[in-house]
Amino acid sequence: MDATLTLPVSEWRIPPSPEIQEHALPALEAGTVLVFPRLNFPLLSGEQGFLTESAPSGTRKNISYDPATGKLGGTQLAAPQATELAALLARFGTDAVTFVSGLLPRYAPHLRQARASFRPAEIMGRTYAPRHDDRRLHTDAFPTRPTQGGRILRLFVNIDPAGTPREWQVSGPFEQVAARFLPELGRTPLSRPIIATLAGHVMAGLNLTHGRRTPYDFLMLGLHDRAKLDEDYQAGALRTAVTFAPGTAWLCFTDSVPHAALAGRNTLEQTFHLPVEAMAQPELSPLRVLERLSGHALV
Ligand code: SIN
Ligand code: FE
Repeated sequence: MDATLTLPVSEWRIPPSPEIQEHALPALEAGTVLVFPRLNFPLLSGEQGFLTESAPSGTRKNISYDPATGKLGGTQLAAPQATELAALLARFGTDAVTFVSGLLPRYAPHLRQARASFRPAEIMGRTYAPRHDDRRLHTDAFPTRPTQGGRILRLFVNIDPAGTPREWQVSGPFEQVAARFLPELGRTPLSRPIIATLAGHVMAGLNLTHGRRTPYDFLMLGLHDRAKLDEDYQAGALRTAVTFAPGTAWLCFTDSVPHAALAGRNTLEQTFHLPVEAMAQPELSPLRVLERLSGHALV
């Protein structure tokens, strides 16, 4: 299986041809990163001013935007800049919904638009704790926002005006990574569905999570952490380097495609959630793979 599939799409609001749609869906579900080298996201005049490392607050590297509330998180910007940046991310989010719905009509009625983010800071050369270091190969799992089995689909676009590419590595397949770490994860109490279910209720009751963590969420968090902390895996996993030049958008299921972001700045990202049942091949979802490998129902 190829790590990437390049598709000739240049419009956010015109659905791609049926032929492109037919190629996109199975590739995406199989763990391929869909790359759109001509899908630029043009900024309006004045918005270039946001392309600076100083937009996030303190040590934060990203600014988040919640389309449900219109609120920004993690920025020190005040009005009117904050309002303008929120408008940019709202516009990007709207285009992202239109684009992904047009590309994947099967998903359209089931897609849930979650947060968007603006990632101005250069990744290379910063220091991170290993568990928070996205330069290490990992699959995504959200500690405070459990998906309860649902998929994490993310659309990115590099908008750097200076020509800086975003450098990723991608690996897989998910089943191989899951099989590698499941025995180790299986030795922790939280891998037992009864204990995980109880812990999920307690954590939600204490408002530590938005929604309840299921046994699936505990396993996915464990997989994220184990993968990042395992030096043999980090050194030895087969991977493909991918370069996303400015003006390029890309889309993948980041919960199943092991990825590492090594360098780059000024990228926009929109997260979507999708129920497993909306997939053409639900058996390829991390939920079904982990259920099969562990022999337990996980949600
Ligand atoms: C990640 O999800 O690991 C980070 C991706 C990126 O910011 O390019
Ligand atoms: Fe990630």
